[in-house]
Amino acid sequence: MPNSDVRFQWHHGFEVGHPAIDDDHKALLDCLNRIAKYFAISRGEDAYEECLNFRAEIERHFEKENRFLRVIQFPRWQRHLTSHSKFTDHLLTYCAFCGERCRKSQEEECLTDLYAMLVEHFIKGDLDFKSYLEHENLANKQRRNGPSGSNT
Ligand SMILES: [Fe+2]
Ligand SMILES: [Fe+2]
Repeated sequence: MPNSDVRFQWHHGFEVGHPAIDDDHKALLDCLNRIAKYFAISRGEDAYEECLNFRAEIERHFEKENRFLRVIQFPRWQRHLTSHSKFTDHLLTYCAFCGERCRKSQEEECLTDLYAMLVEHFIKGDLDFKSYLEHENLANKQRRNGPSGSNT
């Protein structure tokens, strides 16, 4: 997506040092930026479809991250899983009550909240394991197909 179309830019400070997880995070942010773009050109149905895509991608991302954190024996694994469950609950509740107003291109208030939730996941949630990866010498050494369980 060209920079001029991007509502919220990726920041290197969001990186956790694991390529597959950082790629997921960038893709999730891209989803929200596409929703913003659709709102800007009054394509509400496309914004709604992208929101459904975002929810599915979040689910896949959490499954991947949960598996990875278990494999590397992250000490606060359980607490981290709980934070993912809370995120999912919050997102599902939010989407159950938004009334799908986006489909009529009437509302984009939701988008600000979705950005806030996602960025909170990056900096309050996942930066918690960044230092562990660095300490265990795991940061930036993971290739996209390893270690086992981290990228499937
Ligand atoms: Fe996480
Ligand atoms: Fe994450």
